[in-house]
Amino acid sequence: MILHEFSEPTPWLDSMVTAWESLGGPALQARGTFHVSLSGGSTPKPLYQRLAQLKWPWSATRLYLGDERWVTPDHKDSNYRMVNEAFHGTGVHIERVHSEIATAEVGARAYEKQIRTDLGDPPRFDLILLGIGDDGHTSSLFPETAALKEEKLLMAANFVPKLGVWRITSTYTLLRYARAIWFVTRGPSKEPYIRALAQDDPKATFPAAKVRSDRGTIEIYHCSQP
Ligand code: 6PG
Repeated sequence: MILHEFSEPTPWLDSMVTAWESLGGPALQARGTFHVSLSGGSTPKPLYQRLAQLKWPWSATRLYLGDERWVTPDHKDSNYRMVNEAFHGTGVHIERVHSEIATAEVGARAYEKQIRTDLGDPPRFDLILLGIGDDGHTSSLFPETAALKEEKLLMAANFVPKLGVWRITSTYTLLRYARAIWFVTRGPSKEPYIRALAQDDPKATFPAAKVRSDRGTIEIYHCSQP
């Protein structure tokens, strides 16, 4: 796994913006649309804000949420809210998880159906961005949760006992189909995980270490400065 490591944020962000352009250009040429699944949390927000300043064909780009907390879209914890704020003004389409309806199970099924409709079968995102939590989770694939074992579904409802909340998450199966996966991480708490990933440590058992790609690339963009 290729590790791009930076000691401060500007070159870290610059490198991802350049990589976004080198990935997105050919995708648009080949298929007319650039499909990207975004990670949530707080780390990626400055990247999304930087991308939003790009002169970019946003009308031919479609953004999805790789996972979502089961809260309303205006809730402070909503990943959709964070992404929508960051990309404000671009007019880009953000496929929202309808987390205000029914249950996470119903929401996961509806979101998977939308992904399959938009991207075909198997749905192959041009780029999937993932974070890594302080417990080694990625997307909402938390240690010792049911979704870790899900092989058939592409989006799964996942109860996270330690947080006492429901989420929906991309499954390892959906991640496998991606053309490119980036782990976007920042700060010392993520170091042990990115070292293990960069060394393809066979003993690594945390959820992010189980991410695989059938035919795509997996890279890490890490900024050591918190
Ligand atoms: C979420 C994310 C999650 C996140 C990690 C890291 O919904 O929380 O998708 O997987 O990427 O928790 O979060 P930070 O980057 O904010 O540390």
